[in-house]
Amino acid sequence: MSKVKKAFFCQNCGYETVKWLGQCPSCNQWNTFVEEIIQKENAKSNGWQHYHDSNDRSNKTIQLIEIRSSEEKRLLMADEELNRVLGGGLVTGSVILVAGEPGIGKSTLFLQNGLKLSNKIVLYISGEESEQQIKMRADRLNIHNESFYLLTETSTQIIFQEIKKLKPDLVIIDSVQTLQTPYIDSSPGSISQIRECAAEFQRFAKETNTPVFLIGHITKEGAIAGPKILEHMVDTVLQFEGDRHYAYRILRTLKNRYGSTSELGIYEMTDTGMRAVTNPSEILITQKEDQLSGIAIAATIEGIRPLLIEIQALVTQSVYGTPQRTVSGFDLRRLQLLLAVLEKRGGFHFGIKDVFINIAGGLKIEDPSIDLAVLCALLSSYEDTPLPHHICFAGEVGLSGEIRAVNRIDQRIAEAEKLGFEKIIVSKYNLPAGRHGQKGSTRQKFNIEVVTMGRVEEVYRYLF
Ligand code: TYD
Ligand code: MG
Repeated sequence: MSKVKKAFFCQNCGYETVKWLGQCPSCNQWNTFVEEIIQKENAKSNGWQHYHDSNDRSNKTIQLIEIRSSEEKRLLMADEELNRVLGGGLVTGSVILVAGEPGIGKSTLFLQNGLKLSNKIVLYISGEESEQQIKMRADRLNIHNESFYLLTETSTQIIFQEIKKLKPDLVIIDSVQTLQTPYIDSSPGSISQIRECAAEFQRFAKETNTPVFLIGHITKEGAIAGPKILEHMVDTVLQFEGDRHYAYRILRTLKNRYGSTSELGIYEMTDTGMRAVTNPSEILITQKEDQLSGIAIAATIEGIRPLLIEIQALVTQSVYGTPQRTVSGFDLRRLQLLLAVLEKRGGFHFGIKDVFINIAGGLKIEDPSIDLAVLCALLSSYEDTPLPHHICFAGEVGLSGEIRAVNRIDQRIAEAEKLGFEKIIVSKYNLPAGRHGQKGSTRQKFNIEVVTMGRVEEVYRYLF
């Protein structure tokens, strides 16, 4: 009988120790260690047999200037949003981890992209769904492609045998949690399995120059953090996010060795697959004829794209002893801060009110520039007075009630103008007084009226 080797792994970050620990020394999380059987009998050999003898390549040091620089070769996908998120197409030989919650649409998006890549051999490996299920989905997407191959298998040994026969130009793995290498003895989905299987595909990608997409599931809290431990191994990490109850999805770059991490793709889930959304602002603002109170429009930047979104607030008399604060898509602590600022600077009594904040479209916004719009939506609901037509906001609110400058103000103003807004309220620190009316100043460039304010009291007086 072969010797069984065991180790303990942190489920949060993948830290490995020989004995159980209460707290992970790497990520400081408590109670995250689990025992796994690892059996590294012949650790050197792996599922991916080297094409060439690894001794050929001597590891001697060389001068950097001796290395000829070559443009990375990029494979252009049919999906423009995906190309952009990847930094201008898919770099050959790169490994891309796509993480997202179950049911968000990862399989759909990558099946769709694989099918749309014509004249290239694409291998889609599924360990989760049967051939019939994938066929049904492909029928629904209604794309035909003769160079698209399907393999429902979880053992990396068999997968690599098939890969050697087929020699694909692109490999999509759905999902990395279902993979299993015979060289490790723990069950699929365990940290040591995920890590080893991903490492095999990493070696495969680098040696054959074949790009690989690894799809991985994460939970809302990131608790079963399987894919998280892969982040440092892969070249690119994409996160697919959104609320399952809404149609909009955001594909975000968290890490990219071949491009910027501020790129962002927006999709809409339709009954025939994912549709790239090229002008997101128009759908995120509900066009209403009659004005309602508690609604304000924020000019935000997501990644590097300007986006106008609707903030909805509801302020009601509290019926219970403790007033409620509920947010969806906005940070609860920021809401509490804004309420405290309004209480202290404006004398509004939110202490006896229930407060609800909702960001339209199920989006989650971290850009602090939406503060001002949230604050105005709160005031509008508190006063039960609709805000004037065609006005939007961009500004961060500080603790003393000052409106602080935000970045990329020109882009925000330009987007608001494009969508037909007549006024935008921004911080006076963004457009200092000295520049007013000067030729070439921000104000002069736009037809939209740019109103600058320094404090929340001024905004209140201006609006109500
Ligand atoms: P899926 O791609 O299976 O998600 P994941 O791989 O991230 O778990 O998507 C699941 C959901 O997508 C499912 O609820 C059905 C829906 N869907 C559509 O709305 N339109 C479509 O064309 C397809 C194929 C799926
Ligand atoms: Mg899936």
